[in-house]
Amino acid sequence: MKITKATFVVSNTDYKLCPTDERAEFAFIGRSNVGKSSLINMITGNKNLAKTSGRPGKTQLINHFLINEDWFLVDLPGYGYAKASKVQREKWERFIADYLTKREQLLNVFVLLDSRLEPQKIDIEFMNWCGEKELPFAMVFTKIDKLSSSALQKNLVKYKKEMLKYWEALPPVFTTSSESAFGKEKILNYIGQIIDNVKG
Ligand code: GTP
Ligand code: MG
Repeated sequence: MKITKATFVVSNTDYKLCPTDERAEFAFIGRSNVGKSSLINMITGNKNLAKTSGRPGKTQLINHFLINEDWFLVDLPGYGYAKASKVQREKWERFIADYLTKREQLLNVFVLLDSRLEPQKIDIEFMNWCGEKELPFAMVFTKIDKLSSSALQKNLVKYKKEMLKYWEALPPVFTTSSESAFGKEKILNYIGQIIDNVKG
């Protein structure tokens, strides 16, 4: 799978107002500042497509990007942004949960995890919630340029061990860097396979 064209389409808080043309879509979720928007830019090869920031809480809406005039990548707000007010957090959680559970054309969710951290309760809980909702997801470790490969391997092992407390099998696991573009082809091929399966 190669991306030849990527364009911003629309931002919403209500999944019902998102594009209605039933194209396949893939969403990126994870804690605030984990690198969701940066990963979308890395995958599409366009640094200015999704807005990124060193400060958490940058993405606040459901953003649809049309890829190759065929399918969507979706950038979502992060969860666990401590500085947002409780009311604001609950509002976000509501519309993100509605989007994730009610959007039928959503084929896969990429759950982004900071590769520098040991397993985080909030991320494990979120993935377990995806399981309850029967939402297919893959684990994507971000920012691998920021740690040594031995430290990365250690955290991956810990994460896999933690997941296997709750799951019989692991979902697909990707390691990425938006700085070096590591992991780009594997994620694109995975998306391509899912689209091929759906199109038959
Ligand atoms: P919210 O929209 O606030 O939820 O954040 P986000 O998950 O979209 O994160 P974003 O892509 O805005 O990136 C947050 C910060 O991490 C920015 O300063 C990025 O430059 C940095 N960053 C993201 N990915 C990488 C990476 O792979 N390597 C390095 N070194 N920095 C990264
Ligand atoms: Mg963002």
